[in-house]
Amino acid sequence: MSDSINIGAVDDIDEGEAKVISGSENGTGADIAVFHADDGNFYALDDTCTHETASLADGWIEGTQVECPVHSAKFCLKTGAALCMPATIAARTHKVEVKDGEVLLYPNIGANA
Ligand code: FES
Repeated sequence: MSDSINIGAVDDIDEGEAKVISGSENGTGADIAVFHADDGNFYALDDTCTHETASLADGWIEGTQVECPVHSAKFCLKTGAALCMPATIAARTHKVEVKDGEVLLYPNIGANA
C-alpha cells in the first residue's frame, strides 16, 4: 500500500483545468500535473513536457488529451502516450483516485497499476 497525497476536493479543480503538485511536495522531485479531463475523470502526468521545457498544466485539455502550450504535441492523459510530433517520448503517468469527494494522487504509481 502506497502513500497518497490529498490534493483537494473534486470541486477545487474545474473540468478542463489542472493543478500542479510540486516535486518537493509529491516526493518524486518532478512536478506532477493532475488534470480534470472533459470525461469528468482525473488523470496525472509528469508536468514537464517530454519534448522541451513546458508545463503541460498550462496546455489545453481536449477530451482525454492535453496539448502542450509550446509546440502543440499532444499526450494521452490515460496512458501518457505522445500522440503527435514533436514529442516522441511518453509522459510518465501517476495513479489518481477520487474518494469521498477528495482527489488522491499516488506519486510514482502508474495510472494502470
Ligand atoms: S515543449 Fe512541449 S511540444 Fe515542445
